[in-house]
Amino acid sequence: TMDAKARLREMNKLSANYFYYLLHSKRGQKGLAYLKNRGITDETIKRFGLGYADIYNDDLYRFLKSKGYSDEELKDSALVTIDERRGGSDKFWNRVMFPIMDVNNRVIGFGGRVMGDGSPKYLNSKETTLFDKSRNLYGLNFARSSRKKEIILCEGYMDVISMHQAGFTNAVAALGTAFTSGHGTLLKRYTENVILSFDSDEAGQRAILRAIPILKEAGLTVRVLNLKPYKDPDEFIKGLGREALEERISHATSSFMFQIQVAAGRYDQNDPEEKTKFQHEAAKLLSTIEERLERKNYIDAVSREYYIDAKDLEELVNYYGTSG
Ligand code: UTP
Ligand code: MN
Ligand code: MN
Ligand code: MN
Ligand code: MN
Repeated sequence: TMDAKARLREMNKLSANYFYYLLHSKRGQKGLAYLKNRGITDETIKRFGLGYADIYNDDLYRFLKSKGYSDEELKDSALVTIDERRGGSDKFWNRVMFPIMDVNNRVIGFGGRVMGDGSPKYLNSKETTLFDKSRNLYGLNFARSSRKKEIILCEGYMDVISMHQAGFTNAVAALGTAFTSGHGTLLKRYTENVILSFDSDEAGQRAILRAIPILKEAGLTVRVLNLKPYKDPDEFIKGLGREALEERISHATSSFMFQIQVAAGRYDQNDPEEKTKFQHEAAKLLSTIEERLERKNYIDAVSREYYIDAKDLEELVNYYGTSG
């Protein structure tokens, strides 16, 4: 019912306030030190409402009980688990806490990170009646009003936070889940352009290839950011700073050329046989571009970049069939 939902909202908000309070108390010193050590300022902590979950595994449970919530309500919040014999225990303890807000700045769930090495690195709230992971993006509550011409899609909490702290208030991230068409539709409400800024490791690059068709399907124009030699936006900013990132953003690759680059990387361009295979693969990709002039422009771009005769490539593209 509406009432249960309102109480769940209130419970999430109270919990976020509690974690935030703990972070600034004596008990939270370790958490605060961890965040400071990662370069997060007080202002950023406040803006994102970062917090700390204490070492006792029933700390939040007791706090919420004292506020009058029933075990049943607590269970539905996904913040605690209730065991018949052992009673209530917190999902999050001994972690720094990242409240997840919807576009209207309401807390709908949490992510929690271990301080240092440990597994799992991040814990995330399960979905509840408030929290639908494929209809929310971390940081979108701020990014929606950033007045930039694009939204930058990152992998993680820390990426979004570092980006915002460096002035890139248009950064968002999916919440410990794969990027879905629900996310694509959500983004399209706020922008026409998305820059993919996932991690530069294998997993991140594969995730980019999966996200591209989803974003394009939603009607978005997609570009891809190159963060090398750094692993993710957070580390890039620490290493090279805000201006270098601005420069990389202005040179972000079109999603199409990114797909071509990935294909090219699989073949030895100095080996005639492998180069031929690459040309076939590139032609197949090019043949999927529906608009004639755009297709022609990409044929030119690919031929120039990979030293292929444009006429040869065009013939091969036509062989694979075009629709425009
Ligand atoms: P990463 O492993 O790239 O971590 O996961 P990170 O964001 O760079 O974190 P730091 O810098 O080490 O603190 C990217 C995202 O994937 C989700 C989280 O949302 C994380 O931010 N994730 C990762 C989980 O949900 N659980 C995990 O155990 C790890
Ligand atoms: Mn990663
Ligand atoms: Mn990362
Ligand atoms: Mn990181
Ligand atoms: Mn330049």
